[in-house]
Amino acid sequence: MTKTFRMDEAQPRLLDETGQGIVGAPLDRPEGPKKVSGRAAYAADGLPPHAAHGVLVRATISQGRITSIDESSVSGMPGVLGVFHGPTMIRNPAQGMAGAAPVQPDDEVHYHGQPIALVVAESFEAARDAAQRLTVNYEAEDGVITDPARSETHEQGDPETAGDFEAAFAASEVTLDRTYTTAPHAAAAMEPHAAVAEWDGDALTLRGALQMLRFNKKELADSLGIDAEQVRILSPYIGGGFGSKLGIGPEAVAAALAARELGRPVRVVMTRQNVFDSVLRRTETSQRLRLGADKDGRLRALSHDDRVSNIRDEGFAEPVSQASQFLYGAEGLSFTQTLARISRTPTGSVRAPGEAVGMLALEQAMDELAEELGICPVELRLKNLPDKNPMTDQPFSATRLADCLRDGAEQFGWADRKPMGERREGDWYVGMGMASAARSNMLIKSAARVRLTGEGAVVETDMTDIGTGSYAILGQITAEMLGLPIAQVEVRLGDTSFPGASGSGGSFGANSAGSATFLAAKAIRQTLAGRMGCSLSELTLQDGIARGGNREVPLSELVDAELVEEASVEAGGTSESHFSSGFGAHFAEVAVHAYTGEVRVRRMLGVMAMGRILNEKTARSQAIGGMIWGLGSALTEELSHDPRTGHLATRDLANYHVPAHADVPGELKVVFLEERDDMANPIQTKGIGELGISGAGAAILNAVRNACGARVYDMPATPDRVIAAMDAADF
Ligand code: MOS
Repeated sequence: MTKTFRMDEAQPRLLDETGQGIVGAPLDRPEGPKKVSGRAAYAADGLPPHAAHGVLVRATISQGRITSIDESSVSGMPGVLGVFHGPTMIRNPAQGMAGAAPVQPDDEVHYHGQPIALVVAESFEAARDAAQRLTVNYEAEDGVITDPARSETHEQGDPETAGDFEAAFAASEVTLDRTYTTAPHAAAAMEPHAAVAEWDGDALTLRGALQMLRFNKKELADSLGIDAEQVRILSPYIGGGFGSKLGIGPEAVAAALAARELGRPVRVVMTRQNVFDSVLRRTETSQRLRLGADKDGRLRALSHDDRVSNIRDEGFAEPVSQASQFLYGAEGLSFTQTLARISRTPTGSVRAPGEAVGMLALEQAMDELAEELGICPVELRLKNLPDKNPMTDQPFSATRLADCLRDGAEQFGWADRKPMGERREGDWYVGMGMASAARSNMLIKSAARVRLTGEGAVVETDMTDIGTGSYAILGQITAEMLGLPIAQVEVRLGDTSFPGASGSGGSFGANSAGSATFLAAKAIRQTLAGRMGCSLSELTLQDGIARGGNREVPLSELVDAELVEEASVEAGGTSESHFSSGFGAHFAEVAVHAYTGEVRVRRMLGVMAMGRILNEKTARSQAIGGMIWGLGSALTEELSHDPRTGHLATRDLANYHVPAHADVPGELKVVFLEERDDMANPIQTKGIGELGISGAGAAILNAVRNACGARVYDMPATPDRVIAAMDAADF
């Protein structure tokens, strides 16, 4: 067993000393050519010989109970091989990092579109036909509640407080009390969820579209009632996840069950509509923000009370006020959450769960407060930056938020911002807005193996690459540590037979799998130093040459037989002693059409400090992707449910409006400030995937207000809402 390294104290910044010049460089993703030429095989691309096709059957009621499923209604149809249902077949996917079978509702139906059975046939068409014809008898409940405002709610945990909010609010010279709502969102990953299951005796191989294989393996085994050692999951390429592929889903368990029963491989692919219906979505939220400040702009009171939703019996509740708890300090802080039980698709993690919607509200409230106080919004934030987490008293491990705000204002030309409504170009009002960004940072237990021969190195871990750049950065860390050109490092991911890593989630993949890879490579350096007869600190490895102890030896001579090291890392004392978060500042300029209410984002700037940047290109792509999603959640993205039935009306990418190229400004700039987070992990990095979305939408909505006076409290700010808000504008 590999001993696990615990992050108990700051580690030397070895990646600043190695000198190969590869870490941080904007290298292309090594798997890119395979992806763009169609040679990277995604889960559903592989169809083993004799595979059968499964199609999920979905509930046609919104709340109630299944009384019977009449298999004979389809069993005689040509090509049909079987109908699978019952308690083992999971209907609700696992939440992220569950590591065990998800809780299942027995015969109950909790939402329209819930997977309740699988029909397997010789062809996809036959299976789909039979799935639609299968007779399912229900006992539907009356009075289905699909609107969180009308549902039963219960409090999620105790209120979290510091100081006395009510007293501080009452004593504040200026106060603000606002309620904002956000729409439910879909992850909308390009690759639909799919699984191909194949048994060899009692060993299962599953090709899936999954983000966290170490956990998924246990979830799948537990769902099937077998040992985790009997399961191998392969997920080498994943067409986006954004949280929707964190936990094992119905398609994977159903494929495995059917394949075992039929004695042949089974492939289950969700259609785009299936994905919208039954993959975990982001909750809608209602958020009440109360801010109290003195006239000079010092915050005295801050409370953030939110309501989120889920189906009955599901425990997940989006941590909406996460960033509000540490971003600004105040004498009195208070945070509460209620959970509404409704008959809509269950909710789960979608990119930056918490901050993505919480900061839409918080950062608009801060903008409203700045306006109320007559203080520049950048100034108001600068006045209220704490030096430690105000709820936990932990010092921040690294924060350059003040620099992000100042540099951003400078680079964006914030000084040219006009008073509200004063800049008009023809039919367009033009304005600027800004917001802070924050997303807390984590280290999750991870292992990786590095092999070195005279020819080059290989990295092996079950870490996934969901389009983020894991292949690139793990190769870069290894090449940097072993002094190799990047072309001499091969990275193998997405296979549970490799050492188990964090997987992709919570922006912690690069930190966690990257640290394990770093430590494995460091152990190899130690061995090489021994062979050179020098200490680790005297050893240099560059371009395939080892130097140390007054000797210079090519690696090809130094490494005769393969050197293999596996390393494992986990969070330790530094995660208690310090609080780590990525920080940044978003700026936006928008034009709002005076008559149609259309909002065009003209330019965006994100200045971010995210610890050590491992690859300047993939990091930038992540930041840009997040900011574009911020634009989507501010202006266009909304899962619409029929209020009477809870049926989803927006079940494809024609109706669920993610920003298209034409919606995204040509001038979308990202600046990284140099930073090292010594307390976060041995490679001094912070999470990158989610900081870009956190706060970005608020900067756009604050710009809309500056442009034309419209403050839209129900997001997204679609043209109808912008027009109404312009009419109501108080200037
Ligand atoms: Mo993320 S929402 O943890 O993929």
